[in-house]
Amino acid sequence: MNLPDFQARFAAALDRALPAASVHPARLHEAMRYAAEGGKRLRALLVYAAGLAAGAQLDHLDAPAVAVELIHAYSLVHDDLPAMDDDDLRRGRATVHKAYDEALAILAGDGLHTLAFEILTQTQFAAPGAGTRLAWVQALASGTGSRGMTGGQVLDLESEGKRLALAELQTLHRLKTGALIESAVQMGLAAGSADMATQAALRQYARALGLGYQIQDDVLDVEGSAASLGKTPGKDDAAEKSTYVRLLGIAGAKASAAEQFQFAQEAIAGLGEPASLLRDLLTRVAQRSA
Ligand code: IPE
Ligand code: IPE
Ligand code: MG
Ligand code: MG
Ligand code: MG
Repeated sequence: MNLPDFQARFAAALDRALPAASVHPARLHEAMRYAAEGGKRLRALLVYAAGLAAGAQLDHLDAPAVAVELIHAYSLVHDDLPAMDDDDLRRGRATVHKAYDEALAILAGDGLHTLAFEILTQTQFAAPGAGTRLAWVQALASGTGSRGMTGGQVLDLESEGKRLALAELQTLHRLKTGALIESAVQMGLAAGSADMATQAALRQYARALGLGYQIQDDVLDVEGSAASLGKTPGKDDAAEKSTYVRLLGIAGAKASAAEQFQFAQEAIAGLGEPASLLRDLLTRVAQRSA
């Protein structure tokens, strides 16, 4: 299987997980589906890639792949709200609060957030056992909550108009974006039976990829176009966000991202064929323009 096969597998699992758009209350379920559509599916692909590197069974990876993308979709819906980044465009179309309304966007986010954890516990999706389900819930909750993505989003908003030290900005990025990427890899690992050294290597890979991914997002906000990104560029500068570009310039930010991708590559260099999907993903991320 290659990346498009995993994407197709993921799409089918996501469709199974989400209530049909006709289920009452229909407008809410329609908005949840709308929010979950599109995107590159990096976090889901990381679950599959990490799981396979850890010897997991493929059907044991669908639940965590879906759950992490539901959390990611919820985080984007709330990130785009007027009270946060106030964005009108996401994944090439109107943001949820524009396509529906603000109250429904908040509630669709709530519904996606909750559904993620429900999926991890439902026997409709296979798992190696109850212990793994518990490990998934733990890994996803810690990446999502106040010491993960949610905490990072607060730091992001608090740092508007300020000049952070590089170490502070790194923490912000590790939390708002890195933490959920680390959860994805951790959930893949939890479904498998990798030895301690392999687990440590994959965690290091995730930590570096997660930071590099947000640095790159900062770069794309400056260099990308609405057509390629599917979101409005130039918003970080307008909101005086603390970004790597603001602190280090474009060249400095690009060098920092490249450095993190190099760390990620080195972390898994010794793992051979089982880690090939992780390598493919890294290559794709490092070359991305969207
Ligand atoms: C956007 O994430 C927000 C960040 C945390 C960087 P992605 O660039 O992975 O967004 P989608 O899922 O492909 O839309
Ligand atoms: C997003 O950071 C982090 C999230 C947790 C959603 P950004 O605010 O930079 O993401 P985009 O650029 O809107 O996708
Ligand atoms: Mg934001
Ligand atoms: Mg944003
Ligand atoms: Mg951004």
